[in-house]
Order: sequence, then C-alpha cells, then structure tokens
Amino acid sequence: MTKVALVTGGMGGLGTAMCKALAKSGHTVITTYLSNDEKAKSWLKQTIKEGFTFHAYKCDVSKIDECEKVVLKIKQDLGNIDILINNAGITRDGSLKKMTKDAWDCVLRTNLDSLFNMTKQVLDGMLEKSWGRIINISSINGQKGQFGQSNYCAAKAGVHGFSMAVAQETAKKGITVNTIAPGYIATEMVMSVPIDVRNKIIEAIPVGRLGKPEEIAELVNYLVSDNAAFITGSEIAINGGQHMM
Ligand SMILES: NC(=O)c1ccc[n+]([C@@H]2O[C@H](COP(=O)([O-])OP(=O)(O)OC[C@H]3O[C@@H](n4cnc5c(N)ncnc54)[C@H](OP(=O)(O)O)[C@@H]3O)[C@@H](O)[C@H]2O)c1
Repeated sequence: MTKVALVTGGMGGLGTAMCKALAKSGHTVITTYLSNDEKAKSWLKQTIKEGFTFHAYKCDVSKIDECEKVVLKIKQDLGNIDILINNAGITRDGSLKKMTKDAWDCVLRTNLDSLFNMTKQVLDGMLEKSWGRIINISSINGQKGQFGQSNYCAAKAGVHGFSMAVAQETAKKGITVNTIAPGYIATEMVMSVPIDVRNKIIEAIPVGRLGKPEEIAELVNYLVSDNAAFITGSEIAINGGQHMM
C-alpha cells in the first residue's frame, strides 16, 4: 500500500531532493513550508512540470499549535502519516560572545523543538499501525562543533539524543527512528559561499567534492524502506570522510 511521507522544509535544497526520491519510490509526499506562498506556488508548478504531484501545507514547525493543526488537516485530507522526515532547519551564526538570545532561541526552536512538535503529532498513528519511520536531519557540525555556531551545533547534537530516546521507546512497535548527519552538500546556500571559501571547504573533504542532495535523499529512501527495519537509533554520517567517528 502507498505510504504517506511528510518532509518538513521540503521545498529547500535537501528537502526537494528527498521529496522527489520518496515520490519516485511510490510514496504520497507532503511537504510543509514556512511563509512564502508565492515561492511555494512556483515550487509546486515547477515540480508538476517535472512530473511530480506533491501536497504542500503551510506550517511553522517551531510552533506546536501550528503543527497540531496542520497534522490534523493532513490526516483529514490524506490519512495517517507513516513517514516523518524532520528536515526543516535554519542557521543564525555568530560567536557566542556576539550571539543574541533571539538567535539562540530561533535556532533551537526551529532545529530542535520542531522534532518534539511534529513527532508528537504523528506518533500515535504510527503506533496504531505498528509501522513508522522517523528520520531527523542533523549535521556534521552537530557531531564535531563549528566556530560561530554554538546555537546550531547544540540543536543538531540534541537531534540525535532525541532520535536515540524515541528509538528505544518505539523499537518493539515497528517504528524506526534515525538521524542523518550530512556534511557540506551542494545546495544553493553552500554554492552561494564565495568560491575561495568554498574551495577551502572542499580541500577539507577527503572525497574531494561537495555532497549531492540526491545522495542524502537516497539514504532517506533506504532508511524508510522495509529493508532498513533493523536500523534504529543510528546516526549516519554522509560527509565525504570529513569527520569520522
Ligand atoms: N545543505 C547542507 O550542506 C546541510 C548540511 C548539513 C545539514 N543540513 C541540514 O539539512 C536540512 C535542510 O537543509 P537545506 O540545506 O536544504 O536548507 P534550506 O534549503 O535552507 O531549506 C530549509 C527548509 O526549512 C524550512 N524552514 C525553515 N524554518 C522553518 C520553520 N520554522 N518552519 C517550517 N519550515 C521551516 C524552509 O522553508 P521555507 O523555504 O518556506 O522558508 C526551507 O524549505 C537542515 O536541517 C539543515 O540544517 C544541511
């Protein structure tokens, strides 16, 4: 039976690749977006041209009341969510000395609170079905730290703590919960970094290149498959060898 997959922040660089990969393997794919209706419309238009039919809902994942409402609406429209990819994320960089409380709160709420806000809404449905897949997107910088990103690194390190705990709570119920920690991937954000800085980043990657969004998406596709039922509570690094644990 077709499974329903929700990718938060699915219109972004990695999210778009995840949505496409999940759709290609036969899932009904839903994405949430934050605020820009025009941008969302043009994303939907473009993906229709490419042969995809995605469902898009507006929701700020840092706000639990919005998550509650949107998941209720999705359940009415499309049924229970079988697969949740907690992908939405932001950065507000600055050294701790200069970091504002607002930059700290914003990053923690969007990258970490969002996991609680969204997972709470879908868990009961997964438990009832005795099947579910939850993937939380972290970062290489949550594993190794990064100058100027104490907020982002704290949130992304917390992501895997959440995954491990919920994995233990749900392992006997057919639900897997895993973390993916991407390294530097060739998304718009990374490609807009000045070429000399980008080259320095690439020099630090043993494989000698940036990752491709499709490489992250294929890992997502594998982890949501029945073949991956024995993988839970894992953090899978996909970083070209830049950080080995
Ligand atoms: N790109 C990389 O190299 C890299 C490396 C390691 C980890 N990651 C992680 O991978 C994930 C995706 O990154 P990306 O590069 O694809 O970033 P991106 O292109 O900026 O996409 C992020 C998405 O998150 C959404 N979003 C932001 N705040 C939100 C909120 N409060 N509520 C709902 N949606 C929100 C944005 O929605 P709108 O478009 O509507 O604003 C956007 O679609 C993030 O968690 C990021 O930390 C990325």
